[in-house]
Amino acid sequence: MSSTSPLAPQRTPGDPRRDPARDRAILDTLRRPLRDLRISVTDRCNFRCTYCMPAEIYGERYQFLPKSQILTFEEIARLARVFVSLGTRKIRLTGGEPLVRADVPRLVAMLAAIGGLEDLAMTTNGYLLADLAPALQQAGLRRITVSLDTLDDETFGRMNGRGYGTERVLAGIEAAAAAGLRPIKIDAVVQRGVNDGAIVDLARRFKGSGHIVRFIEFMDVGNLNRWTPDMVVPSSEVVQRINQAFPLEPIAPAYYGEVADRYRYKDGSGEIGVISSVTQPFCSACTRARLSAEGQLFTCLFGTQGRDLRAPMRSGASDAGLAALLTGVWSQRGDRYSELRAGLAASPGKKIEMYQIGG
Ligand code: GTP
Ligand code: 5AD
Ligand code: SF4
Ligand code: SF4
Repeated sequence: MSSTSPLAPQRTPGDPRRDPARDRAILDTLRRPLRDLRISVTDRCNFRCTYCMPAEIYGERYQFLPKSQILTFEEIARLARVFVSLGTRKIRLTGGEPLVRADVPRLVAMLAAIGGLEDLAMTTNGYLLADLAPALQQAGLRRITVSLDTLDDETFGRMNGRGYGTERVLAGIEAAAAAGLRPIKIDAVVQRGVNDGAIVDLARRFKGSGHIVRFIEFMDVGNLNRWTPDMVVPSSEVVQRINQAFPLEPIAPAYYGEVADRYRYKDGSGEIGVISSVTQPFCSACTRARLSAEGQLFTCLFGTQGRDLRAPMRSGASDAGLAALLTGVWSQRGDRYSELRAGLAASPGKKIEMYQIGG
């Protein structure tokens, strides 16, 4: 899409100097501040999405991490405090599926108590959300993002690899809204020939509800999802298709480094987002660190090598020692995989899987 198109996104300029709090943050080699931490609380999931944990590989006998190797809530909260002391302002809990870990509201409460943290969110598949939404809200969760790739039960059952319909997820979304976890974001990964027919349906369903549907370009995360470029539906096409049914106009990012490009319905009935990591990468404003359930720190969703934080923590490192370790990792960071993707002759090596790093 040309920049003169009325539907061209209004992007965050890729200049870290636009971040008002930049001077107080640690910067990486591309001068990007460390602002967000995404914490995977488990590598387990009750779904088997074909693009993430294909059932034929992650069967009943698949060995997920044993409990002893997973960070305890106390370890997670300790690391989170150190991150916040270094300028992290937003934490998002992910998985696997975060709600399959027992007692997650207790972790939410521990994180919500950290002074200086401005945003605490979660990304879930929504299957267990109807029961847990009130407890999560009471524990201090501010916002929730629910993944939902289609409204068609048959397609959904195929995509989640379990044959589950959409009913429980939709009930989870309603329960979360009723509990006050608003505005809810609904994330749909779009694959050509699989669920691209769902784009306008999803927009229609949530238009006027106050929830924000975001369409994600299918990415080559991990090593197992048989990604090919022709399976990607470019966001420009998503926007055009919705615009034909319900006229749209671009609006400015809500905050520095926002991943989604935002559009609102011209009739005032809400907004949608598109996440264009393939066709319009946003690495230049990427402020996100990711912590796996076993305590490995990754500085890119497409990372091949994490830095172990669990071993130093379990062998007595002080908070200052951990802060120095994190500062060292971030200040050496130069990741920009999505910007380089098109020019890479081959994959850089075995990448971390989505269920280990949480998207
Ligand atoms: P808000 O805080 O609500 O704006 O959401 P967010 O920007 O934290 O986005 P969210 O966690 O919901 O991410 C949505 C999806 O965007 C993820 O599931 C990923 O598929 C993709 N995504 C998020 N962060 C990155 C990133 O750093 N790189 C790439 N390539 N994709 C990302
Ligand atoms: N490309 C884009 N998004 C993905 N997700 C999982 N795998 C991919 C992929 N290959 C999304 C999930 C969920 C979030 C955690 O990441 O659908 O919304
Ligand atoms: Fe589970 Fe999310 Fe992976 Fe689907 S994408 S298998 S819901 S972790
Ligand atoms: Fe950030 Fe890596 Fe995604 Fe680029 S590809 S936006 S550096 S996580």
